[in-house]
Amino acid sequence: MSQYSNQNRVAIVYGLRTPFIKSGTLFKNFSSLDLGKMVCVELLNRTEINPIDIDKVIFGTVLPSIKTSNLSREISLGSGIPPSIPAFTVTSACASATQAFTNGVESVLSGDSEVVIAGGVESISDLPVLFSKNFRGMLLDSSKGQGILQKAKPFLKMGVGDIVPDIPAIAERSTGLTMGESAEIMARQNLISRSDQDQFALRSHVLASKLEKEDIFKKELLKAFVPPNFEEAIYIDNTVQDELTIEQLSSLKPLFDKEYGTITAGNSAPLSDGACALLLMSEQKAKSLGYKPLGYLRSYAYAAVDPREQLLMGPAYSTPLALDKADLSLKDMDLVEIHEAFSAQVLSNLQAFGSRKFAEEKLSRTKALGEVDMDRVNVTGGSIAIGHPFGATGARIILALLYGLQRRQANFGLATVCAAGGLGVSLVLERE
Ligand SMILES: CC(C)(COP(=O)(O)OP(=O)(O)OC[C@H]1O[C@@H](n2cnc3c(N)ncnc32)[C@H](O)[C@@H]1OP(=O)(O)O)[C@@H](O)C(=O)NCCC(=O)NCCS
Repeated sequence: MSQYSNQNRVAIVYGLRTPFIKSGTLFKNFSSLDLGKMVCVELLNRTEINPIDIDKVIFGTVLPSIKTSNLSREISLGSGIPPSIPAFTVTSACASATQAFTNGVESVLSGDSEVVIAGGVESISDLPVLFSKNFRGMLLDSSKGQGILQKAKPFLKMGVGDIVPDIPAIAERSTGLTMGESAEIMARQNLISRSDQDQFALRSHVLASKLEKEDIFKKELLKAFVPPNFEEAIYIDNTVQDELTIEQLSSLKPLFDKEYGTITAGNSAPLSDGACALLLMSEQKAKSLGYKPLGYLRSYAYAAVDPREQLLMGPAYSTPLALDKADLSLKDMDLVEIHEAFSAQVLSNLQAFGSRKFAEEKLSRTKALGEVDMDRVNVTGGSIAIGHPFGATGARIILALLYGLQRRQANFGLATVCAAGGLGVSLVLERE
């Protein structure tokens, strides 16, 4: 039996995304708000849903601008959705869009909403960079001063260090380690070789570039027109390399442990900009509006590990929970989409799926989840090739899984994402 009874299933009616673009390149002049509006407007146009029928708008993001802290509300207002429709923003590191999605699902299941737009967005190009705490204090004191002298006085205490910008780090607050350093630990402890990591990265590019040549890919993407002239249409993820070789990958220097490390820019997901949105409805509502959904959510589960352990192992913990709720097993999954933060993290999680020792010691289970058939995993590439706008990836993975199931005429799929903080989420989706 699934987590939800059939009458209450939540349908994913449609979804699409912007191309995912390497930060600092083609989308560098777009903010998260621009990208979110772009995807939301196109979703409304393509589905022809009447905006008044939408009950809620929920986007996930990781690094919001302080000017648009409730980014979803701004996306909603800026996309022509009536002001009377509520919107809120969620954050859960790289699982932000899946969090937005499951919040949307719960809203439908509780009867609070019938129709929800849920997705995620990130612009690393438009990173919110802060002043140092000291300098912010001086700015605040200065703003309270009367007259030019009082306004200038707080700055007399200023030292050179005070004007050094405070750039958000991709590091754990609790351990001080960056994601890359954590992946390095996982590679070492799980004996994932550099060569296996590079082979996996190459596979991601080969599969993603194959898909780009297929027409169905265009269903998933919108055409983005970029400033200043808005003449050039971007219709492809610009990090996918169709002529990449294993020699190129193996020649790259390790970045996080320069002496003995194995994690390089080539076997990591590149920093990227992009947005993805999904239209969710109760199954009955979708039917009554005449939509043929892409698929349905059957179950989901979140899990978390201590960040001082292997940080990006979340999927190995959340997947058995989601499969149990779905009353299905790993071998029932026709396709698996797993977020590729690093090759080492994917290979570590897949290894844990197949390990009885892991099952016994970490999950208190007697049997391993099972070996994964690689012909079913990330069959159209993953975040290493396609890119990883933090807040958007969770929604892209759901979309890729649903289009993948459609392409294979298959039914069950698993989508799973690891995230900073030791978080993991897994979703079981079904097409029929
Ligand atoms: C890994 C990371 C630090 C690399 O950042 P970067 O150094 O700015 O990356 P670049 O794109 O400049 O690549 C560095 C070099 O590798 C090369 N390179 C990158 N990918 C390559 C590939 N697939 N094939 C060949 N060369 C590649 C670049 O051309 C560049 O070469 P250069 O130094 O000669 O110009 C960054 O992408 C990152 O932090 N990724 C992980 C993000 C993360 O933590 N996610 C959260 C996970 S939950």
